Amino acid sequence: MAVSTDRKNRTAASSNGSERTVDQQTLIEGLNHDLAGEYQAIIMYMHYSAKLTGPYRKELRNFFQTEITDEQGHAQFLADKIATLGGEPTTEPRAVPHADEPRGMLQRLLEAEIQAITDYNERIEQAEAFGDIGLKVDLENQIADETRHKEELARILAGWSEA
Ligand SMILES: [Fe+2]
Ligand SMILES: [Fe+2]
Repeated sequence: MAVSTDRKNRTAASSNGSERTVDQQTLIEGLNHDLAGEYQAIIMYMHYSAKLTGPYRKELRNFFQTEITDEQGHAQFLADKIATLGGEPTTEPRAVPHADEPRGMLQRLLEAEIQAITDYNERIEQAEAFGDIGLKVDLENQIADETRHKEELARILAGWSEA
C-alpha cells in the first residue's frame, strides 16, 4: 500500500488520522504502573480497615470499605484496557506502607490518592498523544473519583486531634 509523502515519517496514525506521539508499548507500561497503584489502594484500604482501632474504628472502616469498591472498578478498567491494547496486565501491587495508628493510615492513604491523581494526569496526556480520546475521558472520570477520595481524607485529617 502506497504511503503519501507527507506521512512517510510517521510511525503510526490514530483513528482520527492525527499523528501518534506516544507508542502503544509506552501507554501499556504507563497503564500497568497505574494498575499496580490501584491494586495497592485496594490492599491498603482492606489492610487498614482490618487493623483499625480506637473510637472511630467503625466510621473509618465503613469509609475505607466504600473506597475499595471504587478502586476495584478502576483496577478492572485498567486491566481490561491493557489486555485490549495487547498488553499483559500486571498482578503486582505497589508495596503497602506500614501504619498502626488511624492518623498514619489516613496520611498514607492521602499520599496514595495524590500519587494516583499525578499518575492519571500523566496518563491522560499520553492517551491524548496516542489518539485515544475515549481512554482520556475514562481516565478523567477516574481522576474525579480519586479527587473525591483525596478531599474526604484531607477533611478527616484536618480535624484530627490525635498526635
Ligand atoms: Fe483508584
Ligand atoms: Fe482512590
